[in-house]
Amino acid sequence: MKFSMKVLVMATAAMFLTTGLAIGGEEKDPLKARVPADKRSEAKKDKSPYGKDASPEIIAEGKAIFEGKGTCVNCHGKDGDGNGPAGKVLNPGPRNFTNCKFHKKRKDGELMWVIKNGSPGTGMVPLIPATISEEEGWKVIAYERSFCKD
Ligand code: HEC
Repeated sequence: MKFSMKVLVMATAAMFLTTGLAIGGEEKDPLKARVPADKRSEAKKDKSPYGKDASPEIIAEGKAIFEGKGTCVNCHGKDGDGNGPAGKVLNPGPRNFTNCKFHKKRKDGELMWVIKNGSPGTGMVPLIPATISEEEGWKVIAYERSFCKD
């Protein structure tokens, strides 16, 4: 009896683990472009009004939007690593903004395109203009860039 209970508990634990893995997905190919090929060159031309080096004030405003009305924090996490409470159950998982390789690969305009149009088939839904304005979007992008510490 004791033995079969143990087996049962272990089998149940194994089941939970596998289901957990199936629900909470890994981030998928972060370096692969998300803007469709026919829209990409146009998207890349869309430049941030804050340029490459946003001021600390703009980055601070971006942080407030990321953690506040933008709701980004719920999925992308307070540390920007994609481990927010809602992000944990998404498959594919949210973008990890601490990954500098990702930032090098993407132009600001490509990030803007995804915030406006979403990434189809994922939890990243369009958030401009319903949740935040375009101007707020550029500020959040400046903040997301700041998670790369290189
Ligand atoms: C409901 C969860 C959720 C919320 C809220 C959310 N995101 Fe995302 N986000 C995701 C997921 C999931 C992905 C990964 C999509 C993929 O792999 O294509 C993603 C990807 C991204 C990307 C990467 C695009 C690329 O080119 O790879 C950017 C930029 C982004 N999100 C910005 C934001 C911003 C800014 C906010 C808040 C205004 C936000 N997200 C809110 C789930 C979320």
